Amino acid sequence: MGVSNVRYVRGNCLAASISHPRILIHSCNCNGSWGGGIAYQLGAKFPKAEGDYIELCEKFGSSLLGKFVLIPSYTDSTLLIGCLFTASFGGSQQGTGDSILSYTKQALEDMRIKIFSDTGSGGEIDSFSRKYIQRFKDKLKVPVADYKLEMPQINSGIFGVPWPKTEQLLAEQSSLSFTVYVL
Ligand code: APR
Repeated sequence: MGVSNVRYVRGNCLAASISHPRILIHSCNCNGSWGGGIAYQLGAKFPKAEGDYIELCEKFGSSLLGKFVLIPSYTDSTLLIGCLFTASFGGSQQGTGDSILSYTKQALEDMRIKIFSDTGSGGEIDSFSRKYIQRFKDKLKVPVADYKLEMPQINSGIFGVPWPKTEQLLAEQSSLSFTVYVL
């Protein structure tokens, strides 16, 4: 594994020993289910965040595809949850994963724009979802843009997409640096 803007770390991405401010990015379905894998672990640990995610899915459904939404963990001011909406439904996917990869690419670009250039699309999803991080503003440790971008090997578990294909999309975001946790 070798892409210059991706650093690999062995271990659990939710380990209690991690204390620097970070955005934990993961791949979400639009069906309101954090039922397995990393999403399940986040929901179990941060139920209020899962509530925000469910609210979004109920309101917008598959129009979320290709979008990035930032949700506070609420109980840990060093952890924000970055949701990449990459599939309409959860569970293992059929086929090559091309659609998941295409939405991952779009959502990573949406993330870059929202976090680093302050110019969201201004659409309904963006104006609705901005409130989540707004109401956590006073508790942020540092500006959102200074939270480190971290993730497990997204898309490669339940979604079954070979990791190198997602890694390539991270490489294309060459202005950003990512830390990826490998179990
Ligand atoms: N630390 C590090 N890596 C982890 C951890 C953890 N605590 N938990 C899971 N992983 C790894 C898995 O081994 C896999 O390589 O994260 C990767 C992504 O696995 P999944 O969670 O299965 O996610 P993904 O393949 O992106 O599928 C997304 O599953 O997470 C649910 O609701 C979500 O529908 C969505 C789908």
